[in-house]
Formats: sequence, structure tokens, C-alpha cells
Amino acid sequence: MLGTKLLLPFLVLSGPPVTDLKFCEVNIHVRHHGANDDVLVRIWLPSERKDWNGRFQATGGGGFATSLGFVGLAPALMQGYAAVSTDGGHDEWSWLSLEWLMKPDRTIDWALWQNIVERSLVEQILIGKDIVEQYYGDKPHHSYWNGCSQGGRQGYLMAQKYPHLLDGIMAAAPALDLISITMGGFWPQFVMKNEGTYVSNCEFEFFAKRLMNECDMLDGFVDGVIMEPDACPFNPETLISHTFDCHGQNVKVTSSMANVVRKIIQGPHTPLGTQLGPGLSPGSNYAIIANISTTPSSTHTQNPIALPASAHWSWALTTLSTDLTALRDAGTKLLSWHGMADEIIPYQHTLTYRQRIEREMSQVDEVYRLFLAPGVGHCAGGSGPLPTNPLAALVNWVEEGEAPEVLDAVVTTARWEVLERQVYAKKKENWKCVSGTSGGNGDYRNELREQVMGLASWMPSWGGWRG
Ligand SMILES: *[C@@H]1O[C@H](CO)[C@@H](O)[C@H](O)[C@H]1NC(C)=O
Repeated sequence: MLGTKLLLPFLVLSGPPVTDLKFCEVNIHVRHHGANDDVLVRIWLPSERKDWNGRFQATGGGGFATSLGFVGLAPALMQGYAAVSTDGGHDEWSWLSLEWLMKPDRTIDWALWQNIVERSLVEQILIGKDIVEQYYGDKPHHSYWNGCSQGGRQGYLMAQKYPHLLDGIMAAAPALDLISITMGGFWPQFVMKNEGTYVSNCEFEFFAKRLMNECDMLDGFVDGVIMEPDACPFNPETLISHTFDCHGQNVKVTSSMANVVRKIIQGPHTPLGTQLGPGLSPGSNYAIIANISTTPSSTHTQNPIALPASAHWSWALTTLSTDLTALRDAGTKLLSWHGMADEIIPYQHTLTYRQRIEREMSQVDEVYRLFLAPGVGHCAGGSGPLPTNPLAALVNWVEEGEAPEVLDAVVTTARWEVLERQVYAKKKENWKCVSGTSGGNGDYRNELREQVMGLASWMPSWGGWRG
């Protein structure tokens, strides 16, 4: 089973085939008073002391799974970590389903909910560290969190509430606000129903291509990556009456289609225009949440991703506390990155969180760094360069005191060239308002272009790029 490529609806996890791992697996079952649960805590330890890097890694979950089991454990073990995961007392592969949250009488099992929200995360660390010490006779010299999506949220929870348990936290594309994410995920389908116009995937493709044509070059390179999606001025209305081909049929852009695309990019808002959350960032893959399937007879069918959420219980997963005092006091580092073409959790969620922290705390960069990866999808995928080993950058920060300014990243081009690039930290000094009294759009873009050109001039691998 190790090394299996898991193709999940919106998450592709792949890696080199895992062979020849020598490790000790310890399984511990935990039951909570009054909870009627049975929580598996699984620890993988390099069999021989010489193969252990002396570190401990707690792995996070994904979707509605408390952890990823071997998918998280195997890469950690391969890098020499002693690692832990926990199933939170429910079906380990429940990426999209929350069936496990229901008791047989269809009421909510709050005890299980508490496990994924935080209880099992803390317990896996306490138990895991203890087993490591019993096995090797030594405590790990450093302990880390590693997770994306749900696992990213769990990492932020650790940073907010339990930073003293860890030395470093790597938390990518965090699902900090399930209610808002779910509402955003349903928004495109809602817009199309309201508008009475179901824009097919092929029709979306047309808009996406025109958008890319218009905004790809803003950063100085035609590479299918939009560096600053917010600065993309694409207006679908300019395409009204254009015609194009979809599976042999001639399609003409109507104002209603343009309206749908505009509202999807704009994101959920009230009828009075109050913004309720970010829209789909320009350059992300629309077919994931705006998915409309068509038949040869042109029947258009909606295919919403049915992520369950409800104000009655989802609040527990809201992980937006802006008090990072405990993180600072513990001396723990939080390293986070988010793909700017994330089609499930728009990167603006994380950016907004970081900006709120900056308003409440000084010298945020000493403890918390956020990197935005242009063109990258949810946790992976997309056309942009994917950070290669953010955990290693975190380890270097924690253990050597070298705070990362950039993350190394790679991208495979359409011609299968592998290019190395770097993803920059989003620090306050790097931001400028794109509108307002000083600065302004033009300046901002020019500066961005200079930055990118500067980068290109000393990176030989960029030679193959047009721009
Ligand atoms: C769109 O929905 C169809 C029907 O449910 C499904 O087969 C297809 O995989 C979906 N496409 C994407 C990109 O999710």
C-alpha cells in the first residue's frame, strides 16, 4: 500500500515509491471517559537509532480526516523523523464525508468532534513523544507539526493554543474558517442557479484562457502563472457577443454568462454588496467547484462539492484567534504557505488572517512567516512552482536561527522542463495598497515586474522562458 498514488477529488498526493523502510510501528488505543470512542494513535519509529534524525513530527489531517495515516507518516519516516498520526476515533479516509460525526440516532457526536478539533491532536503529541523516549531512551531534540488544509488548520490551532508542545509548525493552506470556505465553495453553483445560466466547463475554459491571456504577462512572463491575482483587471463583460467553439458547437457569450463569471471571481456577498468572503482567484481551476457537466443533447447539470457545514457545529473548527502571545512566549516558529490558485480554500483567507495578526502584534516575522505561492492549487497542483521542502526551511529556522526569506520551489513546464524558482515571504514591507492616495496600480505592477526580472537575471534556468 505504501507509495500508492492517491487520486482524490481535489487533492493529489504522490511521492516516490516507498520501499525498504525499516521501522517500528506502535499502535495505542485511547478511550475518553463518557465518550464511547476508540482513538488510534500510530507512531512510526526508525528501527535503528542511527537512522533517527533525533526529531519528532506530528502529522495533520485533510478534509474531514483527523490525520492522513501512512500518507503523512511515510514521508516523515523517510526523512528520519519519528512520527505520529491519529485517526481521532473515526474512519481514517473520510476526506469529504462527515458521516462519522453522526451517532446512530443522527445526533452529533460531540466527543468525536472534540477529537478532530483539538483533543486528539494534543494527545498524539504527548503520547508520541513519550513512546519516542521509551524507544530510544532519549527525548527528541526538536518537535514539529506538519500539515496542509485540515492539517494546516490544526497547525494554526497548535500555534494559537499549544505552541509549547512544539518547536516548529509547518501549516499550509489552512482551513481556518470552515463556514466561510464552504459558503465560498458553494457560491459559484448558487450564482448560476440564481442567474438561471449554467456555464459549462468548456465555456469556463474560454473565459479562463482569455483571463490568462490578459493577466499572465503582468509579471513579465508568459508562463501560465499569475503572480498577483488581485492585480488582474480581467472584466468578463468585455467578451459579451464573442463566439467560440465548445465540442463542435458555436457558443456566443451572453451578458448572463459574463455576469456569472464576474460574480464567481468577486466572491460571496450580500444583495447590498457586503463581501462575505473571497471569490475564486483568477488563474485557479474553475471546474472543481463551478463544475457543470453537459450531455451531447446540451443538458447542463450542476455538480456542487457537498462539503457539509453548519453554524450549529462548524464553529468549533473556526481557528481564527489572533492572540499569538503564547507562540511568542514559547519561542515556537510558525511557517505557512498558501497556493494563490487554490481552488478550494482561497489564499485570501490566510492573507487576511496574517494581516489581522500584523495589526495586533509587532515583529510578527520573528515567529510567523507566510509565503504565497503563485499559480499553485490546494496543497499542490496548478501551474506554479510548488515549494519543495518547506519543513526543511522551518527546521533550519528553528535549529539554526536562519529565518527563511524565500522558499525553494520547482515547477514542471508544459514541455516537461523542471525549473527551480523561489517563493517570497509576504511581509508587511512587501505590500503596497493597489489603490488609495499614494502608490497606485502602475507603481505596484512596475515594482513587481522589477522584482521578477531581477530574479530572472540571476537564475540561468529561466533562459527557456519567454518574456
Ligand atoms: C464534475 O462532475 C462530474 C459529475 O459528478 C464528475 O464526474 C467530474 O469528475 C467533476 N469534475 C471535476 C473537475 O471535479
